[in-house]
Amino acid sequence: MDEMHHAEWLIERIIFLDGAPTVSKLNAIKIGRTIPEIINNDSDDELNAVSAYNDAIKLAREVGDQITSDLLSKILAMEEGHADWAETQNTQINQMGLENYLMNQTASPAVD
Ligand SMILES: [Fe+2]
Repeated sequence: MDEMHHAEWLIERIIFLDGAPTVSKLNAIKIGRTIPEIINNDSDDELNAVSAYNDAIKLAREVGDQITSDLLSKILAMEEGHADWAETQNTQINQMGLENYLMNQTASPAVD
């Protein structure tokens, strides 16, 4: 869901800068068959996004575009959060085992 907002913000900024956003060129979707595979695929994508946004921020600063740099930094912070979430899931799976992890995910919160 966050990424949809990111796309919206970036499209608005590109249009503001009189650019033409390309929305048809999408990255290949990696479909995981197991929970660990799904989380690892997500982790890879989040870390790639973190790297790409860091490069974009560097470029925006080089051309003196502070507003774009600020926007990209805001998105980068969210992507770092996503990467951290995936890392936490992997750590939990490694520590407690997949079955216990899945039970934890499905356990409904205690009703007072
Ligand atoms: Fe993300």
